[in-house]
Amino acid sequence: MEVRKVGVIGLGAMGAGIAQLCVEAGVDTVGREISDELGERARDRIGHFLTRKVEKGTLGQAERDAAVGRLALTTEVGDLADCDLVIEAIVEELAPKRELFAELDRLTRPEAVLATNTSALSVTEIAAAAERPQRVVGMHFFNPAPLMPLVEIVRAELTGDEAFETAFAFAERIGKTPIRCHDTPGFVVNRVLIPLLNDCVRVLDEARVSPEDLDQGMQGGAGWPMGPCTLLDLVGIDVHVHASEALFEKTRAPRMAPPPRLVAMKNAGLLGRKSGRGFYTYED
Ligand code: 3HC
Repeated sequence: MEVRKVGVIGLGAMGAGIAQLCVEAGVDTVGREISDELGERARDRIGHFLTRKVEKGTLGQAERDAAVGRLALTTEVGDLADCDLVIEAIVEELAPKRELFAELDRLTRPEAVLATNTSALSVTEIAAAAERPQRVVGMHFFNPAPLMPLVEIVRAELTGDEAFETAFAFAERIGKTPIRCHDTPGFVVNRVLIPLLNDCVRVLDEARVSPEDLDQGMQGGAGWPMGPCTLLDLVGIDVHVHASEALFEKTRAPRMAPPPRLVAMKNAGLLGRKSGRGFYTYED
């Protein structure tokens, strides 16, 4: 199915990044946030990153302005009724996601594709809230969405071929390199990356190494583009702990459980970049 209009629900770091990709690819996009203020904040964020591209000469000023102009903001889910594809990037909790998919299923056209960007919840459980689960699919983007090439296209138990291939083709259209996978805990990358990052944090204490040295170790010795502590600060300590808990609950594999040090950081509000302090301190 041809996607002419996209809706993005939840314009936090991931949703704003996804909306940015859509408008840059020339697709009319409706972004929904719970307040005007949060919507405007996301538009400013997108405008900022596109302005940086203009400054660096990789995007023309007119193209930048046209891209920003393609983003409409709303606080009403009903304003997404005529979208061909809706990508959900709200809070990582099952109940609100299921409620949203039931609502989207009622108000969008029956052939519209409904995608969730969940990283650790079951797409099948989310899809089960819809009358037409065949049109629900996972589109799992990676942080930062505008820079990371991968999107996992996740087939839930009842996902139909039409929805699956529409999501795959759309990911390609916005410049991504999608891969196909089934709905299993953590899908492909998080199934590997989450326990690996947990191991890294356990090594911090076991080997009595500093975050700086651990980061240097994994960059210099394993070729990681950024060290694990920097990556955890980027992803958000709370997001990572939440995803770890969700995967532990499903797999019961001890390596999935969040290390106590990360749980303590989360409880203390040391969430990484977004709170100004995590393993490192951030001034901007
Ligand atoms: N959105 C849009 N644009 C952004 C951005 C963002 N969030 N962050 C940076 N940019 C733009 C900026 O304009 C920046 O240029 P500027 O600094 O001159 O303004 C430009 O991108 C390039 O940024 P960098 O110079 O920082 O780019 P690098 O070459 O250093 O690469 C990186 C950055 C791609 C993030 C690289 O360090 C990397 O690959 N890191 C690993 C990230 C990773 O592993 N992510 C996966 C996390 S796990 C996950 O997401 C799963 C989830 O379920 C939790």
